[in-house]
Amino acid sequence: MAVVNTSPDRPYHIIIFGASGFTGQFVVEEVARTSSEGPKGTLKWAVAGRSRQKLEKVLNQASEVLGKPELKSEVDIIVADVGEPESLATMCKQGVIVLNCVGPYRFYGEPVVKACVENGAHCIDICGEPQFLEGMQLNYDSEAAEKGVYVVGSCGFDSIPADMGVLYTRDQFKGTLTAVESFLTASSGPEGGCIHDGTWQSAIYGLADSHKLRSLRKKFGHKPLPVVGAKIKRRGALFFSEEVQQYAIPFMGADPSVVKRSQRFLTEEYEESPVQYGAYASVGGISNIIKLLFAGFMFMILVKFSFGRNLLIKFPEFFSFGFFSKAGPTRKQMEGSSFRFAFFGEGYTEGTDPSQGKPNAKIRTLVQGPEAGYVATPIAMVQAAITILNEPRLLPKKGGVYTPGAAFAKTTLIDRLNKHGIQFSVV
Ligand SMILES: NC(=O)c1ccc[n+]([C@@H]2O[C@H](COP(=O)([O-])OP(=O)(O)OC[C@H]3O[C@@H](n4cnc5c(N)ncnc54)[C@H](OP(=O)(O)O)[C@@H]3O)[C@@H](O)[C@H]2O)c1
Repeated sequence: MAVVNTSPDRPYHIIIFGASGFTGQFVVEEVARTSSEGPKGTLKWAVAGRSRQKLEKVLNQASEVLGKPELKSEVDIIVADVGEPESLATMCKQGVIVLNCVGPYRFYGEPVVKACVENGAHCIDICGEPQFLEGMQLNYDSEAAEKGVYVVGSCGFDSIPADMGVLYTRDQFKGTLTAVESFLTASSGPEGGCIHDGTWQSAIYGLADSHKLRSLRKKFGHKPLPVVGAKIKRRGALFFSEEVQQYAIPFMGADPSVVKRSQRFLTEEYEESPVQYGAYASVGGISNIIKLLFAGFMFMILVKFSFGRNLLIKFPEFFSFGFFSKAGPTRKQMEGSSFRFAFFGEGYTEGTDPSQGKPNAKIRTLVQGPEAGYVATPIAMVQAAITILNEPRLLPKKGGVYTPGAAFAKTTLIDRLNKHGIQFSVV
């Protein structure tokens, strides 16, 4: 069982590493809002990063936004730098869980996972880069299991709504659910919206390197997951979806990789029937499609060369039609934004054999929530941590490197998310 108690040597339940980053600052606010949900109604926490000055600024800002002046004096600061392993070890020895907000993870993530595993701290990140997530599983799963450490990646908008959404859909279905497709729609209000540069950079470097995923996956030596029921159909690169009555494209993020890893774990560990998954994003009308085709074409070409990547990194707004920006969204923009995942599942009713004939039942569910990157992501990340702290007996038996679905399938994470505005429902 995961060790979740603080002690004089390990005084903090949660340490937010990278608290001075664009996302980190909102994670700080979310932890401050949620501190009564810790074990026995309290949460001891600290912020960490490479600049004490910036961390003080973040605490000042959080205290003003939340009207909690005590944050300035009561929350401790730990100075740690990814480039200084000793400082990471000192940080990890002091916390039960490290919430790692330092990205792109492909550059900065591994030393943090290593330090957590070696020093007995559980680790949660909000990475959306399959190569990093799968690489950490390959390299640290056994050592994390030996040490009883739980490393749970992709606990933000990538990929808690999709991964837990598939499990929710399966659990609501009366029979054997065999396939799910999800359609993501992101909306913004009159002020518009955008995504911060940190995620743009992660996407650029992730795509530039995506060809390495195949060889990484070979190293696991996995057998293919069995296909139960009718095989899920593959959609085109751009198609009109009857389901959401909009044009849609395959979702380019980490969700398909994360969901597949969860399904593999649940099949191998608990002998559950695997669910096939397809992830799509709706793109709206014709003008959006034209912008998308143009931006996508430029992106795919430029990302291949270092000068092209430098251009993309220098001018995120230009190359993404304002979808990404160095300043990130304003609080007003975030208030007006939201996301909605529609899940369309099919399977076989109780008593029907999935190996015989076509699926004979369908289900539709939704996962909806506030602005994805900086409101829903901190909620999901913090609730993942609160779940580890409060429900260690419901986690997988051994430590290891897990997806959210693998780590939290038996916990009450979905109920906790429902209470915090990320709503799961059957339509
Ligand atoms: N899953 C999701 O849906 C989701 C949502 C939001 C963000 N993200 C991911 O979260 C990551 C952060 O994004 P962001 O927009 O918040 O980026 P950001 O604003 O650039 O923040 C990066 C953070 O990393 C810190 N950092 C950089 N180098 C460091 C080092 N050597 N040692 C210690 N700290 C270091 C920075 O510290 P300084 O302040 O001192 O520079 C800063 O706190 C990205 O990978 C992004 O993709 C994921």
